[in-house]
Amino acid sequence: MLDDLIPLVNKLQDIVFNTIGSDTIDLPQIVVVGSQSSGKSSVLENIVGRDFLPRGSGIVTRRPLILQLINTCPPTASDDIPPPHSAAAVHEEPEWAEFLHLPGRRYNDFAEVRREIETETSRIAGLNKGINRLPINLKIYSPHVLNLTLVDLPGLTKIPIGDQPTDIEKQVRNLIVEYIAKPNSIILAVTPANIDLVNSEGLKLARQVDPSGKRTIGVLTKLDLMDQGTNALEILSGRVYPLKLGFIGVVNRSQHDIQANKSLPDALRSEEDFFRHHPAYRNIAHRCGTQYLAKSLNQILMAHIRERLPDIKARLNTLMGQTQQELAAYGDHGVGAVAGTTQPKGLRILQLMTRFSNNFIASIDGTLS
Ligand code: GDP
Ligand code: NA
Ligand code: MG
Repeated sequence: MLDDLIPLVNKLQDIVFNTIGSDTIDLPQIVVVGSQSSGKSSVLENIVGRDFLPRGSGIVTRRPLILQLINTCPPTASDDIPPPHSAAAVHEEPEWAEFLHLPGRRYNDFAEVRREIETETSRIAGLNKGINRLPINLKIYSPHVLNLTLVDLPGLTKIPIGDQPTDIEKQVRNLIVEYIAKPNSIILAVTPANIDLVNSEGLKLARQVDPSGKRTIGVLTKLDLMDQGTNALEILSGRVYPLKLGFIGVVNRSQHDIQANKSLPDALRSEEDFFRHHPAYRNIAHRCGTQYLAKSLNQILMAHIRERLPDIKARLNTLMGQTQQELAAYGDHGVGAVAGTTQPKGLRILQLMTRFSNNFIASIDGTLS
C-alpha cells in the first residue's frame, strides 16, 4: 500500500540512525528553513495540532529535530483525517510522543515533550546559545496527523547574541545546507509575508541548492500582519517567484495569542475564518492554510519517496555489499567468526543492518510491483 511508504522510510531512518549514526543514505524528508522568527515552529505546531516545541526569544532550536508524524487511524473511505477541531475528532483518542533516545517511554503530556526537547538540547549543545548538529528524533502518534517526516533546524540569524560564538551565522548556514543540499530533501522555505520576498533568507538558501525550484515549497506566514490594502495573492498564485511546488499561505498564532493561551484548535478555526472571509483570499481559501499545507506535504512526500525508491534501493544494495565485505573482513581476522557471544558490537549492528535492508528491499519491491 502506497500510504505505508512513509512509515517504512521512518523505520529505515531509525535503523540507519541507530547503527551507522547518521543519515548516510539520504532519506526523503521535509526540511524546514527560514530566518529566526519567520514562524517555523508555529507552522510545525499547527501541523501537529499540539503545543510541544520550546519557545523563547533568540535561538531556541539548537539541534536538528527530526519529527516523524505517524497517523494511528485506519484509512477512511474519504481518506480524510478528522482535523483536531472537527466534530468528528474525539479528544480522548490516544495521542502520544516518543523520543528515539528514550525508547519505550510514552509521553502523553506534550508540555513534558517540550521540557525533554529543552533538556536534551542543553545536554548536547550546552546551556549557552551554541548549536550542535546531532539531531533529536521525536515521533508523534496521533489519529489527527498525516504521515510526515519533518526536520526543524535552527533559524538563520545575522547577529550573535550573548555568549554565542561569533561565527554562529556560518554554523547555522552550514547545518542547513547540509540538510537541504541532499537531493532527497524537500525544502519547506518559510517566509513572513510582511517582508519583501527578495529578502527571504530561506528562499535564498533554497535557491542555492535547488536553483530550478523543483523541490522547494514556499510557506508564507504572517499574512495577517501585512500592511492594510496589500495582499500576497500574486505570490500565492505563483506569479512572482517560480517554485514548481508553489506557495501556501498560513496564519499562525501571534505572540499575543500565545500569551493569552489561545488553543491550537481555536487558532486553526481563526485561520480558516481568515481565509474564508478575506476579500483577496476567499476565492483560493481551499488551497490556503495549515490543513491544506499538511495534506499537500503528505502527498508531495509520498510522491517523492515513490520517485526515489529505485535510487534508495540501489544505495541500500551498495551499503549491504560493503557490509558483507566488512563482515568477511571480521571473519578473516578471526574476531567473533565462531560464536555469537564473542562478536563485537559493530558486527552485530552490521548484521542487523543487513537483515533490515533485505526486509526493506523486499517491502519496496512489494510496493512497486
Ligand atoms: P521561528 O523562530 O521561525 O520558529 O518562529 P516562531 O514560530 O517561534 O514565531 C515567531 C513569532 O512570530 C512568535 O511570536 C509567533 O507568535 C509569531 N508568529 C508566527 N507566525 C505568525 C503569523 O502567521 N501571524 C502572526 N500574527 N504572528 C505569527
Ligand atoms: Na526567511
Ligand atoms: Mg523555532
